Amino acid sequence: MSKDYSKYTISYNYEQRLAKYDIEGSIAHSKMLSKQNIITEKEFAIIQKGLLTVLSEIDNQQFIWKPELEDIHMNIEFRLTELIGEVGSKLHTARSRNDQISLDMRMYIKDLNILAINKLILLINKLVEVSEENSDIIMPGYTHLQRAQPILLSHHLLAYAEMFLRDIDRYLDSYKRADVMPLGSGALAGLPYDLDREFVAKELGFSSLSNNSIDTVSDRDFILDYSYASSTTMMHISRFSEEIIIWSSEEFGFTNLGKQFTTWSSIMPQKRNPDFAELARGKTGRVYGDLFRLFTILKGLPLAYNRDMQEDKEGFFDIADTLNLTLEIFSDMIGSLTFNKSKMLKAVENSYVLATDIADYLVSKSVPFRQAHKIVSEMTDFCIKEKKYFSELELKDYKSFSEKFDKDIFDITPLYSVNKRDTYGGTSENQIKNNIANIKSRIKLIEKQII
Ligand code: ARG
Repeated sequence: MSKDYSKYTISYNYEQRLAKYDIEGSIAHSKMLSKQNIITEKEFAIIQKGLLTVLSEIDNQQFIWKPELEDIHMNIEFRLTELIGEVGSKLHTARSRNDQISLDMRMYIKDLNILAINKLILLINKLVEVSEENSDIIMPGYTHLQRAQPILLSHHLLAYAEMFLRDIDRYLDSYKRADVMPLGSGALAGLPYDLDREFVAKELGFSSLSNNSIDTVSDRDFILDYSYASSTTMMHISRFSEEIIIWSSEEFGFTNLGKQFTTWSSIMPQKRNPDFAELARGKTGRVYGDLFRLFTILKGLPLAYNRDMQEDKEGFFDIADTLNLTLEIFSDMIGSLTFNKSKMLKAVENSYVLATDIADYLVSKSVPFRQAHKIVSEMTDFCIKEKKYFSELELKDYKSFSEKFDKDIFDITPLYSVNKRDTYGGTSENQIKNNIANIKSRIKLIEKQII
C-alpha cells in the first residue's frame, strides 16, 4: 500500500476561520439557484437549514473534520449531505471551489479592512488625546537624530496620526478591491446555467461583479493589497516603537512606559525593558516576510487557478492576526506613556536648536540669509568652545558677531520659536489646534463612510 501523503495537500486545519463566509456564500448561492429554478424552493429551504446546522456545529466545536476531505469546502458539503441526504449534493451545482475560495477570501478581507480601520481610529483618537493632554511640552525635533529645532511633542505625536490616516485610506482602497463578487465564474470559463450573479452580489453585500472569469479565479491582488496596507501600518508602528524605545532609554529619559508594557530582565534587577515595542518592531519583519511569501507564490503562475494558490492563506492569516493584536496593544501602550516635560525642555535648552531662529532674527534685520547662517555658525563654534549655550550670552557677546543684534534677541525662547512656525502644518500651538480639529473631522468622515 502506498504511503498516505494527505498531510501535504490538506488546508482544512488552518482555513476554518473562513467557514462562516463559506456557509453564508453557499446559502446565497443556493437561494439564487432556487430563484432561477435550478433547484426547488423546498430544496433551498432544506439546504439552508442544513448549512446553518453545520455552522453551529463548527461554532460549537462539535464538527468532525475529515482530513481526507482536504479543505473546508468539501468538509462542509460532506457533512451537509450526511445531515440532509442527497439534496445536499445539489449545493455545488454551478459552482467550483475555484470561485468559492475567492468568494470566502474576499468576504473575509472586507471584514478585515473594516476591523483595521476601526482599530486605527481608536489609535488615532488615543494619539489626539495624549497630544491634547501634553500640549504644553516642548522638545527638540530631530533630523539625522541630531537636535534640530524646537517642536511641540504633540506635533511629533500627530505626525503618526497622519501616517495612520493614510493607512486607513489604503484599507478603504483594499476594501474596494475585495468588494467584487466572484461566484458565477466556475472553474475558469463561466457556467452553462442561467445564473443571476447580481442577485448573489446583493445578497452578500458586494458592490460589483467580477468581469472576467479567468481573471477572477486567478486573481489574488486583493490579498496583496490588504497585506501591503498592513505591512505599511506595521512599518509606521515599527518606527514609532523605535522612538518609544529610544525615548524611554536612560540616555534620553523623555518617556516612561506603563509597567504592563515593560518586563523585567531575568538577570539585571535594575532593568525595565520595552519588550512590547521591541516585539512590534520585530513582528514587522514577520509581516513583510508574509507579504513576500505571497508575491513569490504568485509570480510564476500561468492562468487560471493553480493549487499553489492554496499556500496564500497561512501567511496572510498571520498578517491579519499580527496586525490586529499589534494595533490593539499599541493603542493601550500609547495611552500608558508619561512624558518627562522638564527633561524634554532641558534637551532644548542645553542645545543649539535656536540657531535657525537667531539666523531668521538677523534676516528680519535685513541681513541676507546666507550671511546670517555664517554668523550664527561662528557663534555656535564660539559657544561650544566656551562651553556655553546661547541663553548664557550677553548682548555684547552677540554684538561681537553682528551689530544687528539688539536686546530683543532675548525674546527668542523655545516657545517663541515654536509659535513663530505658524505656516499651515507647522509646529505652532495655533497650527496644532487646527490640526487636531482637522483630524477629528477627517475621522468623522471616515466613520460615516464605513457604516
Ligand atoms: N483549498 C483550495 C485553495 O485554497 C480551494 C480551491 C481548490 N480548487 C481546486 N481546483 N483544487 O485554493
